[in-house]
Parts: sequence; structure tokens; C-alpha cells
Amino acid sequence: MPTWNSRFKKELDNQALKFSSSIEIDGKLFNEDISGSIAHVKMLVKQKIVSSAEGNKIVKTLESIRKEISSGKLKYNWQNEDIHSFIEEELTKRIGITGKKLHTSRSRNDQVALDERLYVKKEILSLKKIITGLQKVLLKISIKHKGTIIPGYTHLQRAQPVLFAHHLLAYIWMFERDIERLNDCMKRADKSPLGAAALSGTTIPIDRNYSAKLLGMKGIVLNSLDAVSSRDVIIELISICSVIMMNLSRLSEELVLWSSQEFSFAQFDDSFATGSSLMPQKKNPDIAELVRGKTGRVYGSLIGILTIMKSLPLAYNRDMQEDKYHLLEAVNTTKECLQVTAGLLSHTKFNKDRFEKELNGSLLLSTELVDYLVRKNIPFREAHNIVGKLVELTVSKQKKLNEITLADYKKISPKFEKDLYNYLTAKSSIINRTSKGSTSYKEVENQIKFWTKILH
Ligand code: ARG
Repeated sequence: MPTWNSRFKKELDNQALKFSSSIEIDGKLFNEDISGSIAHVKMLVKQKIVSSAEGNKIVKTLESIRKEISSGKLKYNWQNEDIHSFIEEELTKRIGITGKKLHTSRSRNDQVALDERLYVKKEILSLKKIITGLQKVLLKISIKHKGTIIPGYTHLQRAQPVLFAHHLLAYIWMFERDIERLNDCMKRADKSPLGAAALSGTTIPIDRNYSAKLLGMKGIVLNSLDAVSSRDVIIELISICSVIMMNLSRLSEELVLWSSQEFSFAQFDDSFATGSSLMPQKKNPDIAELVRGKTGRVYGSLIGILTIMKSLPLAYNRDMQEDKYHLLEAVNTTKECLQVTAGLLSHTKFNKDRFEKELNGSLLLSTELVDYLVRKNIPFREAHNIVGKLVELTVSKQKKLNEITLADYKKISPKFEKDLYNYLTAKSSIINRTSKGSTSYKEVENQIKFWTKILH
């Protein structure tokens, strides 16, 4: 029988109980719940609200409940409304009347808000570690492919040659910003709502800062209404997960493209690819596709929780119980996708020689010729026009830029000299880049050095 029901004449209908029970999800927060309770009771002891003998008994019993839930010895089911009630009932079953003191000056409203913040803190650390793991894999491939040239794209049209390492390093930077966002979220998550009680605080002389300190939290959520009714920190974490998934999904999309016969650039290991039940020749990029697909779950969770919260009057409303489904779904999916992407990448071969020859003399080097003319003091717009005419010529003659004769070049602009051909290899276009952060060998090497230092 729930702890709150003495004013009720009937027990909750089974259908209603099953419908409203959240233990299947919040049971996963049992560790956080018990840590919160232990900090709470230690505070009650310090404030002389509970004797130290009683406090010790409660702490010891909570610890054994923690062990038993972890090992699977102690089980719960939907008949237990939520993890908070379950643990308190279990405690009281074991130590009787003393157990009934645990909930002094606390409500499940501040309790659940605390559990969630502790969970958010833990998962921020875990996400950061997993992201770093993926960055390391990306770095390793970058180092291996320092010299591999691929076409860079805009609009998925070939644009200019870039180093494959440069391309992968771009993802390392993107994931680094996700880590920064997580660090930022941590600052706001690291505050304890405990002691806000149901909504208005309490008349019992508690010390909120003390329980926060015991939990290793940097402070308290001061306003008691805010403490029990806000979920913006959770929304923030799910939105960070959404950005991570968006980044992962783009990478997955590229892996799908690169592994296609048309690109013939990436080859997945058999252990990370799947076959077709019908077509014997198929080797499919299912893992990358699933990461791309699971992005939908995380975006769904973001919309889900925003929708739950959007019209809730202060303070607590039961709608908020649904938040944990979205929080756990988003965090678990994101972690799994980050890990599997690292696994997939480290089991993928990239074909070093796939593009370079093809790019030599190709139209992707048109901009090299524009820059060539600019260096000869032709205004950029004019240089652009001149090279535009050249492009037209190569297309009509079905030739590459390095197959056009100097005489033909000179007909289009007298500024062209024999040395122009030096600029028509993929390699030279990489070497000649001088701007900071460009795809030049030197700049890419600098980035590799930078990330090697950061990641090791
Ligand atoms: N299971 C509830 C939740 O997750 C705990 C808080 C219940 N509070 C209440 N006033 N019914 O939101």
C-alpha cells in the first residue's frame, strides 16, 4: 500500500496503478535515489532532527538495499508506484518506525528532481568520455591519411581537393564543441533541489547546503518552486544529445556514400556490415544507416519533453513523470551511437589512391587558376570570368585543364605562362594553400599535433 494513502478509503484501481507507475523507468535511477536519501538523512542527523543512531541505521539499510537492487536480489514491479516509494517502503519493512523518518521535510517532488540532476551529472561525464574515444579514432585515421587527397564538396558537387585528414579533423572540432556544451550544461546541473520539499520549503530546520555538499554538488537551486518544477537542465542535455546525433548522422551519411560503388572510397569490415537476405552480392552499411535513423529517436525525445513542459503551471504536475522516459532514451541512444560509430570507423578501410590521379588537372583546380591570375594583379572578378571561359573550353573539348595547350590559354588571357601547369595537380593545390586552418599539409599537420596533445 502506497505511503500516502491513509486519507483514501479505497486502494488505487489496478489499471490506474499500472498506468501511473513509473518504476520501470525511474527504477534505473535507484543509485541516485539512494545517494540522495543518504545525504538527506545525514543532514537530518547533523541538524538533530534524527538521532545519529537512527541515521546510521537508515544509512546502513539503504546501502544494503542498494546492493540488493544492483545484484538483482531485490526486485520491484509495476505494483510499486515509483522507485522513491519502493525504497522507502522497503526501508520501513526492514527497520520499522525508524524508516518512516527518512522522508522528513522532503517530498518526492524535490527527490525526483535531485535524482535526475545526479543522473544528468553522471551521464555528462560518461558522454564526454565516449566522445573523446570517438575523437581518438578520428585522429588515428587522420594521422594515417595525412596524405590522402579527396574531392571536397559543396552541394554534393565536387568543389576543391582537400585532405581526408582535414575532413575528419572537422568532425573532431564539431564533437569538441559538443563537449564544451556538456561542460556548460554541467554548471547548471550541478545544483541541488533537495529541501525544496513539495513546493514551498519546510518548517523543519534543515540545511540544504549541507546535503548538497555531501552530494558533491556546487550549490542549491535556491527558489523552492523553481527547484521542483523546472526541467530545463534535462531539456538542455537532450538538446545537446540532439546536436551530437546530428553530427553523427552527417558522418553516417558520408560513410554510407563513401561505401557505395559510386564513391568506392570506404570499405567496411565484414564484422560491421550486413548482407541481404535476397541478393547475395550485397554488403550493406546498416550500422551507419541505423545511427542516422536513431537520430529520430533523440529528436523525438527533445520534442517530447518540450511538449510535456510547455503548458505546465508551477509547481509539480504529474505530467513531468514522463520526462525520464525521454531523458534516458536520448542519453542511452546517443551513447550507443557514439560507441558503435567509433567501432565502425576503426574497422573501416579507406582507399588512399581512390581520387588523387583523377583530380590532377581536373576542374576542381579552376580556382587555382583564378588565384594564379589574381597574383598577376588581375582583379578577382575578371580572373573569375577568364577562368570561366577556360572551363567552357575544357568542357567543349572534353579535355582536362592540364591538356589545354599554352597557346589556347594565351588566347583567353596573355597573362598565362608555362608555369601555370605547376598549379594543376591536386597535390600542388593542397601545398599552395597558406591561410590559417586551410587544408594545406602544414596546417593539417598543425591540427594533428594540436589534437594529439589534447587527446593523449
Ligand atoms: N514518480 C514521480 C515522478 O517521476 C515522482 C514524483 C511524484 N510526486 C507527486 N506529487 N505525485 O514525477
